Amino acid sequence: MRLGIISALAEEQQGLLEALESPVTRVHGMREYTAGTLWEIDAVCVLSRIGKVAAAMTAAILVEKFGVTHIVFTGVAGSGDAQVNVGDIVVADSLVQHDMDASPLFPRFEVPLTGLTRFATDVALTERLAAAAAKTTRVHRGLIASGDQFIGRLQQITALKTALPDLLAVEMEGAAVAQVCFELGIPFAVIRTISDNANDEAAVDFLHFIQTVASRYAHEVIENFCKN
Ligand code: ADE
Repeated sequence: MRLGIISALAEEQQGLLEALESPVTRVHGMREYTAGTLWEIDAVCVLSRIGKVAAAMTAAILVEKFGVTHIVFTGVAGSGDAQVNVGDIVVADSLVQHDMDASPLFPRFEVPLTGLTRFATDVALTERLAAAAAKTTRVHRGLIASGDQFIGRLQQITALKTALPDLLAVEMEGAAVAQVCFELGIPFAVIRTISDNANDEAAVDFLHFIQTVASRYAHEVIENFCKN
C-alpha cells in the first residue's frame, strides 16, 4: 500500500507532516506533496485547499504522479443530523455531490453519464478507519454530502436534509475525491470530525474548532489507522 492522505487545510493535517519519516517534498500544480513513512506505511501527504475542483485535481495527481494505491481524506465537516454532534467523527460509507443538478436531463444529484448519485467508499479501508476513530471519539457511519458552498445558514442545511434524509455531514471535497477514485479504480475513504452544525453559528464554530481541536484528531486517528 502507498497511502495518499489529503486534507483541505493545514490545521486538518497538523502533526502528520511532523510524524512523517524521511520526508521528501515535491511541488506539482501549485501544491506540495510530501512523501515518507508514516508509522511504517509508505505515505504521501498533501493539502488540497478548499472545494471540489481542488480536491479532484489533488486526488488525480496523487494517483498519476505519485503512484498512491489508496487515498484517505481527513478533515472537518458540518453536521447534517441532529444525532451528530460537534466533536463526533463521521466516516463516510458513501458520498454525494449536493450541488450537482443536471435536471431535467438527469436526476438531481446524478453525476451525468456515470449513472451514479452516490459513490461508495472502500469497505476495508472504511472499516479500518472507523475502528481507529472509535478509539478517539464517537463515530457515525453513513452519507456525506459535498458541494462548493460553506453551509452556514439553517435554511441551507434544512433544505439539504429534506433532499437527503440520511445525510450525516456536509463538507466541500469528499465527493469529488470519491468520483476521481471511482474513475481511476482507487480504494478510498473519507473521515470528518464535526466542527459545526452547518447552521447560522457555523462560521464562528468552524474557525474556533480548526484553531483548537482539529489537529489533535487527525494525528491521533491516522496514527491508530497506520498501526492497525
Ligand atoms: N466544513 C466544515 N463545516 C462546514 C460547513 N458548515 N459547510 C461546508 N463545509 C464545512
